[in-house]
Amino acid sequence: SLPTTYDGTPRIAVIGGTGLESLPDFHPVAALDIDTPWGKPSSPITISEHPSPTTGKPIPIAFLARHGVYHQFTPHEVPARANIAALRKIGVRAIIAFSAAGSLQEEVKPRDFVVPDQVIDRTKGIRPFTFFEGGFVCHVPFADPFDGQVGKVVRKCGHSLEGEGVRLHDKGTVICMEGPQFSTRAESNMYRSFGGTVINMSVLPEAKLAAEAEIAYQMVVMSTDYDCWHDSGDVTVEMVMGHMRANAVNARRFIGAVLDELSKEEYADLVAAKHLEGGRKFGVSTH
Ligand code: ADE
Repeated sequence: SLPTTYDGTPRIAVIGGTGLESLPDFHPVAALDIDTPWGKPSSPITISEHPSPTTGKPIPIAFLARHGVYHQFTPHEVPARANIAALRKIGVRAIIAFSAAGSLQEEVKPRDFVVPDQVIDRTKGIRPFTFFEGGFVCHVPFADPFDGQVGKVVRKCGHSLEGEGVRLHDKGTVICMEGPQFSTRAESNMYRSFGGTVINMSVLPEAKLAAEAEIAYQMVVMSTDYDCWHDSGDVTVEMVMGHMRANAVNARRFIGAVLDELSKEEYADLVAAKHLEGGRKFGVSTH
């Protein structure tokens, strides 16, 4: 079994979604069992050391399985506040979050990747969605729910793999629905009329909490189905998992390329989120 402490500060974390329950090709050197005022995160946080391509120094990478090691948390049960708080507590300031999603647009085919730039909240208010309550009042900006600078790196890495079969869409709007049931056909068509590109059950409240925690957050979505608006057959779990498995090699390459790039010396300030420092001062706080 792995050591439960780590002497170092991981700045970069990957949150894995369905089909990505661990960080393939990376060998963990520690598994941290973190507690927070919001409870325990979905899984132990594993730390792997990745040699920086520029300096050769080992760069620690944190990994968290959003749905738990046994996929025991359905989307509305994911302890998102504990997840973000635990990552922040160990020093993480940049998150690459992976998620399977249904496609709401013909041109986003199953197995395509999307690096979204917008979100529409269709959760139902049953998930704890803020750190700021009970006397702590703060309103963080959320006009751009993803970090543009991390997003730029992620897009560059995705495009560098196009020759190897990775298809990438540079922007898009994620509809975040409550679930766990998939949408009705009427809802699916409504989300298309909203301008949605893809639909999942996981980007919120994760992205909101990362914003509150001054963490640079970018989601990478892998399309696993055409939801139910399309005439190619209604989405099922078998369909999602089938595309997930079939595309696992591309997902792995994509993550590897992003982590390689972000481990370069030139991104040290970015992954330490120096550009986000003081963001919360624009909120109204009573403390
Ligand atoms: N995750 C994967 N496919 C999905 C879909 N069609 N709707 C919501 N979440 C999903």
